[in-house]
Amino acid sequence: MQDIVILTGAGVSAESGLGTFRDTDGLWTKYDLAEVATPEGFARDPQLVHDFYNARRANARGAVPNAAHDALARLERAHAGRVLIVTQNVDDLHERAGSQAVWHMHGTLAGALCAACGHRWEAPPLMAPDDPCPACQRPTTRPDVVWFGEFPYRMEEIADRLAACDLFVSIGTSGSVYPAAGFVAEAAARGARTVELNLEPSSGGALFDEARHGLASEIVPAFVDEVLAPR
Ligand code: APR
Repeated sequence: MQDIVILTGAGVSAESGLGTFRDTDGLWTKYDLAEVATPEGFARDPQLVHDFYNARRANARGAVPNAAHDALARLERAHAGRVLIVTQNVDDLHERAGSQAVWHMHGTLAGALCAACGHRWEAPPLMAPDDPCPACQRPTTRPDVVWFGEFPYRMEEIADRLAACDLFVSIGTSGSVYPAAGFVAEAAARGARTVELNLEPSSGGALFDEARHGLASEIVPAFVDEVLAPR
C-alpha cells in the first residue's frame, strides 16, 4: 500500500487566482520580502506587514480551490494508503477542497500568534499592530506565518513521513526555498519514487525520477487518475 507525501507550493493555487512569488508577476516582484516576510521587517514596520497579510487574507478568502486541489482531495479519499500534503502555502484551499491531512509548514493566513505569550487564535479579517492578544492583552500580535529566518513548523514529523513514504510528489513549487527544497533528496535517499508536477522545471528538477510540466489543474488530476488506476 503506497504511502504518499505531497509537497505543494504557490503554483498549485495560481489558477485559483492567488499570486505566486517568483513568477514574472509574483509577489516578490512587487514587495521586498525583507520588508514584509522577515521578523526584522515586522519590527521595523508592523503596519506594513499587517497590511500585506490583510490583503493576502482577503485575497485567499475570495479564492476557490481549483481542479488540482480537488484531485488531491480525491486521492486522499480513494487511496488505501496514507496521503499527506505538506504545503508551503498559507491559504486554506487544500482544506476547502476536502483534504484532511494538510500540514502548513509555513503557517497559515487564518492563524494569529502572540509573539509575547505564544497564544494562537483565528485571525480576524484585519489585524493591526496594537491589537491586544486575547490571552495576555499585550499588543504583540502577528500573523501565524513563518518568515524567512524562522523555523518552519512540524519539521521532525515531516522528516519521519519523508523517510516512510513510497511516493513523493512535488507540485507547484520553484524549489527555491529550504528546507522544502531538500525534501526530494530526503525521500529519494529512503527509496521513494519522486515525481515533480510543475509549470516548468524547478531548480531541483533534475533530482526527481520523473517530471511532468504543465498547468496543475491539468497535470495533477491526470497523475491522480494514474495513481488510483487499478494495477
Ligand atoms: N501550475 C503548475 N505550476 C505553476 C503554475 C500552474 N498554474 N503557475 C506557476 N507554477 C509554478 C512556477 O513555475 C514556479 O516553479 O509554481 C512555482 C511557484 O514558485 P514560487 O513562486 O517560488 O513559489 P513557492 O515555490 O511556493 O515559494 C516557496 O518561498 O517566499 C517563500 O514562503 C514563501 O512558501 C513560499 C516559498
